[in-house]
Amino acid sequence: MPPSPRMLQVFDAHAKAGDEFCIFLKGYSIAMNVLVIGSGGREHALCWKIAESPLVSKLFCAPGNGGIASIAECVALAPLDFDAIVGFCREKRIDFVMVGPEDPLVAGLVDRLDAEGIKSFGPSAAAAQLEGSKGYTKDLCAEFNIPTAAYGRFADAAAAKAFIAKKGAPIVVKADGLAAGKGVIIAMNMNEALAAIDEIFSGRFGKAGAEVVVEEFLEGEEASFFALCDGTTAMPLATAQDHKRVFDHDLGPNTGGMGAYSPAAVLTPALVDRVMREIINPTMAAMKSRGTPFKGVLFAGLMLTKSGPQLIEYNARFGDPETQVLMTRLASDIMPALIAAHDGTLDKQTLYWKDDAALTVVMAANGYPGTYEKDTEIGGLAAAGALDGVQVFHAGTRLDGARMLAVGGRVLNITATGASVAAAQAKAYEAVAEIDWPEGFCRSDIGWRAVAREKQSI
Ligand code: AMP
Ligand code: GLY
Repeated sequence: MPPSPRMLQVFDAHAKAGDEFCIFLKGYSIAMNVLVIGSGGREHALCWKIAESPLVSKLFCAPGNGGIASIAECVALAPLDFDAIVGFCREKRIDFVMVGPEDPLVAGLVDRLDAEGIKSFGPSAAAAQLEGSKGYTKDLCAEFNIPTAAYGRFADAAAAKAFIAKKGAPIVVKADGLAAGKGVIIAMNMNEALAAIDEIFSGRFGKAGAEVVVEEFLEGEEASFFALCDGTTAMPLATAQDHKRVFDHDLGPNTGGMGAYSPAAVLTPALVDRVMREIINPTMAAMKSRGTPFKGVLFAGLMLTKSGPQLIEYNARFGDPETQVLMTRLASDIMPALIAAHDGTLDKQTLYWKDDAALTVVMAANGYPGTYEKDTEIGGLAAAGALDGVQVFHAGTRLDGARMLAVGGRVLNITATGASVAAAQAKAYEAVAEIDWPEGFCRSDIGWRAVAREKQSI
């Protein structure tokens, strides 16, 4: 039976008669129990969007945070405790699991859920190697001609140092495995590069530092590129950029991201096509040909160089805080797309995006990305969230009775929409001003590149 106009309306407010996207829902309950794994701002934004879906009747998040608790039932399960997660899925009859962070993906949560017959969103452990091993990705790029910085891969310090001596500085030294964003050293001179090799091989990064990748320093502007993938088809999402450095003017150490915005005008439609053609689609084909098709979201960190886009790294998950701006701009129901990524039916999907821009400002605990105080109280959340077009997504927070406490490095994502990035920026900072949290800080210039571009184009 073809979907009726009413059904289409329920599934997607933007759907047109003739769209075929009800068919893949075969086998899924229309009152789904969904479990989201993770506890960051990314997971709050995903929960917020998933909770809106008419397909979802009950939403759980493990372990969640103080903000997620207002839209989902938070359950105290550790993302790496696969037995407990499977047990919970059985007990609560979970229809679909959305895995947020990289650790459980690289450790094989999706494989385990597959084996148990529980549907989920995310890559297998083999496919998550695209994030789990930088050397794996570099070798794949070399084999399939995907543009990336020239590199060497080493398991011992002497060989790595000899390579550096030959190449000279600036040069980039990376621990091979997952190092929570701390395993990359941009060495501006030889001494820094040689010290970075010693540091990585010192054992500080555990198994992640058993190998190093040494690569050419790339110059250009960075952008975050996301594609939903079902093993065969890849669909680009809206464009975004984040700010990695902790202080204004993009100064100070790298962090997980201090803010983000969408759209990123620097990623023109022509550039998006080129990234799909030269980077994403060849990667999808390569993973399929190796027998490890990639499903989930492929997140390419790009350097837009003079000679074209180059891959800096892959992540096998949604970006944080990029997801916060993508979810606020996504007009379509996200559930059919997540399900299609699992089922291999993305070719029948279309996602619609709002014209409005979105921008998020990360509020972090004083001292982040170094050491910081915990359990400080946050005020003003209701006033900030009450502003028109503002969503406050929580990252490191927990509820203590009626008090909201900061318990992490990145704590809040104050997110706003507007007719332009400049308007979204003004609104987000208006909301930041409502937050009463002396132990926290944020950058005051999130979005500066996009705002400058908007001014130029007037
Ligand atoms: P990664 O964890 O590989 O994304 O690296 C973290 C950050 O280091 C990136 O977002 C870039 O800002 C920077 N970076 C990494 N590789 C390079 C490179 N080859 N050239 C210049 N900057 C780089
Ligand atoms: N914002 C970059 C990341 O999620 O890794």
